[in-house]
Amino acid sequence: MDILQEINKAKEYILNLYNKKIDAAIILGTGLGSIVDEVENKLVIAYKDIPEFPVSTVAGHAGELIIGKINKKSVIIMNGRFHYYEGYSMDTVTFGVRVINALGIKDIIITNAAGGMNPHFKAGDLMIIEDHINFMGTNPLIGKNYEELGPRFPDMSEAYNSELIVLTEKSAKELGYEIKKGVYAAVTGPNYETPAELRMLRTLGGDAVGMSTVPEVIAANHMSMRVLGISCITDMAIADNLEPLDHRKVLETAAKAQNKFVSIVKSVIEKM
Ligand code: HPA
Repeated sequence: MDILQEINKAKEYILNLYNKKIDAAIILGTGLGSIVDEVENKLVIAYKDIPEFPVSTVAGHAGELIIGKINKKSVIIMNGRFHYYEGYSMDTVTFGVRVINALGIKDIIITNAAGGMNPHFKAGDLMIIEDHINFMGTNPLIGKNYEELGPRFPDMSEAYNSELIVLTEKSAKELGYEIKKGVYAAVTGPNYETPAELRMLRTLGGDAVGMSTVPEVIAANHMSMRVLGISCITDMAIADNLEPLDHRKVLETAAKAQNKFVSIVKSVIEKM
């Protein structure tokens, strides 16, 4: 079975359970699952029940699709994503976003937990991703190009949709929250960075560093989707002042930032 057939199989399964129009999709990052509580008329589909859908292995990542309403808009939420460091192929890492596109959804909010490299940031901040640098050393579009999904050489001149960025800044302002903007540098992980690596990533233009998002954003752009990226800065990743970090700290800070995150995302969805 080729990837198009796999995508189609997963899509058909979901359409059998829910066949109305869905306005937007959200991929939830580490520890940002509480927006699921805001969804009305929830339909929950376990990844393991969807044909061809992978299952995620990381603590803080559930494995379910949630379909329902937020502020009268219908949304689909991927609660739990697939990371390259888990050993999945890039086709697997990007499978969810491709299924979402196959369902006819063109707007996607992709979120993550990230380390803050910009000294003006602090743990608990949210950062709108303005742009990214792919330091993963690979790319989800390597290999046969599926013209049905998009072109061989996709444009990335506006990988993060400028209208959605403006909308998000407006939402944050209305709610009285400060929101940062910056460049997300993607590495494979799973180890956190050494000071020398952070110095390099900062020098090369990164404001935040993390281990996800970029493959999904590349696949989404390939399919001409509109992407909004939001990072939750869970720790400061500054070379000369680096404290030991573990996954528990990342989860703790993400949990503290969740209320702000949920309010902003809800407001953005209303405006979309
Ligand atoms: N580095 C990489 N990934 C991360 C970090 C970090 O400091 N924090 C959360 N995800």
